[in-house]
Amino acid sequence: MCPRLPRTACLLRLTVLCIILSQTSAYFGLIGREFLPAPIPSDAQSDKAHLKQCEQLALNRRQKRLCRRDPGLAETLRESVRLSLLECRYQFRNERWNCSLDGRGSLIKRGFKETAFLLAISSAALSHALAKACSSGRMERCTCDDSPELQHREAWKWGICGDNLKYSTKLLKNFLGSKRVSKDLRAQIDSHNVNVGIRAVKSGLKTTCKCHGVSGSCAVRTCWKQLSPFHDTGRLLKFRYDSAVRVYSATNDATGETQLAGAHRHNNGPRPTDLVYLEDSPSFCRPSRYSPGTAGRPCAKDTSCQSLCCGRGYNTALRLTTLSCHCQVRWCCHVECQTCVREEEVYTCKKH
Ligand SMILES: *[C@@H]1O[C@H](CO)[C@@H](O)[C@H](O)[C@H]1NC(C)=O
Repeated sequence: MCPRLPRTACLLRLTVLCIILSQTSAYFGLIGREFLPAPIPSDAQSDKAHLKQCEQLALNRRQKRLCRRDPGLAETLRESVRLSLLECRYQFRNERWNCSLDGRGSLIKRGFKETAFLLAISSAALSHALAKACSSGRMERCTCDDSPELQHREAWKWGICGDNLKYSTKLLKNFLGSKRVSKDLRAQIDSHNVNVGIRAVKSGLKTTCKCHGVSGSCAVRTCWKQLSPFHDTGRLLKFRYDSAVRVYSATNDATGETQLAGAHRHNNGPRPTDLVYLEDSPSFCRPSRYSPGTAGRPCAKDTSCQSLCCGRGYNTALRLTTLSCHCQVRWCCHVECQTCVREEEVYTCKKH
């Protein structure tokens, strides 16, 4: 039944799925939210639920107060944690450190490049999730983007809601309490990396316009701001991680203030877009306080196995995988597929 797949068993199965749905669900369901849904009425029941959620999150006193104040915030915080973790795992899927955070969380207390990435991706995810929550009506205290330069009255008329990054950035800074400028080097580094994350989201904000009128005459034009999919931000931050700058503390002779200085960039200090770190990372090859090591990690034979397995070599095993094949579209919105079973080789890093 599957002539082009050798050593393959084939089963016939009917798969029913809606083409339209499968085409629109992308990037964790977070994009394509520019059309404002009806606001969800808040009642006493859901108010209680959000207070409970605020208690369950590890927040300080000020953060708890902000959380209780807006019924949509707790859910948005959880969404941002999920988003940053998924993206971190995705971006580090072929690295020795695969974004595993189990153990005693000691990585977050150090000054590695990985620590810098974690801070930046977390603040970026929170900024992104907040802006999306505002434009989708899930937050009580903010709505659509209201930049004066856009034709917003019309935007509202057409029901298009822009992503509100201005409000979300303000709330985020308030939430993280980064207003105080600290002299502590570590606090400066953290605050710098948090801002790199926020900037990365901001750099992906695009103005999108749509024309209305008789056959494309564009008599009425509506514009709104839209964030890039979070994968784009993740990719950008991974790129920043790869070119992160090692820094140390330096005193500015003119002002007497302590500031960050780059080790290689002749006194100029890191740029606002550079991720910065304090100390070299461990190899992440063997189990340590910082990672479970790379033993057992799946790798690609010709590309990643060499570096991922740290020269220890890899095991080869056979695995059966099922996949949809010979799909055919039937009438509207139904796809009929066969399920094919294929045998493939998988490679995993050796322990010794
Ligand atoms: C990361 O690697 C470890 C060690 O091989 C593995 O146990 C863990 O499941 C991996 N985590 C992710 C998120 O892939």
